[in-house]
Amino acid sequence: MPVSRDRVATGRVHRIGGQDAYLPLLAMNCQVVRTKNFVADAANLIVDLAHKTLAERKEFRIALSGGNTPRPVYFELARVGHDLPWDRILITFGDERCVPPDDEQSNFRMARESLFVPARVPEKSIMRMRGEIDPQMAAQEYQDHIDLLATQRGEQIYQHDLILLGLGDDGHTASLFPDTSALDENVRRVVANFVPKLNVWRLTFTFPLINHARQIFFLVNATKQRKLIQAVLDGDPKYPASRVNSAAGEVTWILGQSS
Ligand code: 6PG
Repeated sequence: MPVSRDRVATGRVHRIGGQDAYLPLLAMNCQVVRTKNFVADAANLIVDLAHKTLAERKEFRIALSGGNTPRPVYFELARVGHDLPWDRILITFGDERCVPPDDEQSNFRMARESLFVPARVPEKSIMRMRGEIDPQMAAQEYQDHIDLLATQRGEQIYQHDLILLGLGDDGHTASLFPDTSALDENVRRVVANFVPKLNVWRLTFTFPLINHARQIFFLVNATKQRKLIQAVLDGDPKYPASRVNSAAGEVTWILGQSS
């Protein structure tokens, strides 16, 4: 698996006021995996972590990301992960569009077609966000489910073993878009977030839940702008994705390289 890994230096030298200034990266303890085999390597990294976690904890808790980038990765995951005990894997969603589950915009539908059906994932392993009902009610319902899982496991906040995230062209991740109210949520784990520029409601995990995960994988294929990715890695606060920082574990950027 020809990938290059480098740990992002914990800071960069910038010229400020003619002086060299050392700017620590804003708490993003992460590694960057650059690969020309994005789909295969991303799927293999997920499967490796699943097997390792199942061996240690008998359960693997993963949150899926939406959009277009993960679809081929999920197909590959279903293929290379065919021997995974899917009945011991608990699948949640990091965000969802407020549409019915069979809508082409639905992240659930995308995951069902590319992973759940090909891998024969049992229904009991899937926790869907109900995008078809009132957004506030859907967010509260999903948070109650997540909180129940935490209580059943003696945890304050449900700790995912892995959260998959994407990167939008405006630096959003999950459905945490720039200049939206969910960015400032410090208590609730799941909220309904109105996105004025799309004129839609979205359901989304908040930073308290995301940053509580043991591992976070950003899946970013070669179509994403390098400048944006570097700005996020440098902790540019105008990009919501730069506020992702796994307090308990690690953030891994899996970056597709075209050439
Ligand atoms: C969603 C996602 C969102 C996505 C980015 C990137 O529901 O849209 O969860 O955060 O990851 O928008 O989307 P693409 O992969 O389609 O570029």
